Amino acid sequence: MRSLLFVPADGGSKLDKAMASGADGVIVDLEDSIAPEGKLAGRKSAAGFLRQARLANGRPRLLVRVNAIATGLIDADLDAVVAAQPDAIMLPKAEGGASIIHADAKLAACEALAGLPEGSIKILAIATETAAALFRAGTYGGASARLIGLTWGAEDLSADLGAETNRDADGRFLDPYRLARALCLAGAAAAGVPALDTVTPDFRNAALLRREAQEARRDGFVGKMAIHPAQVPIINEVFTPSPEEIARARAVVAAFDANPGKGALAVGGVMHDRPHLARAQRLLAHAASAEKSL
Ligand code: COA
Ligand code: MG
Repeated sequence: MRSLLFVPADGGSKLDKAMASGADGVIVDLEDSIAPEGKLAGRKSAAGFLRQARLANGRPRLLVRVNAIATGLIDADLDAVVAAQPDAIMLPKAEGGASIIHADAKLAACEALAGLPEGSIKILAIATETAAALFRAGTYGGASARLIGLTWGAEDLSADLGAETNRDADGRFLDPYRLARALCLAGAAAAGVPALDTVTPDFRNAALLRREAQEARRDGFVGKMAIHPAQVPIINEVFTPSPEEIARARAVVAAFDANPGKGALAVGGVMHDRPHLARAQRLLAHAASAEKSL
């Protein structure tokens, strides 16, 4: 998944626009973009949307961001949406593997009540939204087969830290958020799941979005979340390997295939060893799966 577009559950026509945006995933939000008094209507709208949207051909993945475990709202969220069969829930304010095990158990109960196979609904976790979460970022491995990825957030974290801002005057993330970003990346790799970069809220600033997407890809993120449809094509472009990159990766794999048992080789006049092979294989795997829709 290269791009995941947020849309508020009460978004009306925005829900249909999100489906047509070209995003690889659509995240219907029941959390921060829905006021407390709107949760009930939001759940109904989300379930109605999912029932229709999941029937579409070549559709994006469908996710629902539920409310955090500590809010006590998550059970009513799951009761309302699980039967409508989202592909995954997004779990905000996750605090390590224990949160995933907790959400897994809740999902299992809802799946049983809805007559769905256990484990059919996956979990994408936001792993850096509280100070405590940062210290548990390394505990996601083995928590649940439902876990399909980690992402990170800077807005709630800055509130939890008591910070005045999370970016400097040039729009670059300050140290605590760079740490959170790195912990998301390392936590995901340690758990064997992909990492997705956080949103760029300044949605009219295409240059900032492109820079953040490029830096994210450079550092190992496989995609990035969006809050506006105009962000989707830029994210998709940045996270889609170019034909030249694919050709280079194929050449590396072919060189190792042609020289079984060799640890280091020259490809294009440059030394390549095992990490280079792994990187090339990873790029080809992404190229094959990036645009896969359901
Ligand atoms: N999904 C689908 N469609 C969207 C969209 C989104 N996230 N954001 C905007 N659009 C649509 C608008 O409805 C509008 O459609 P129209 O041209 O038919 O009227 C079009 O794209 C252009 O929108 P624009 O006028 O530029 O922005 P806006 O003022 O309508 O909306 C936001 C701005 C920030 C309110 C909106 O982008 C949004 O709700 N984003 C998601 C917020 C969210 O989910 N936050 C939680 C996660 S951090
Ligand atoms: Mg939030």
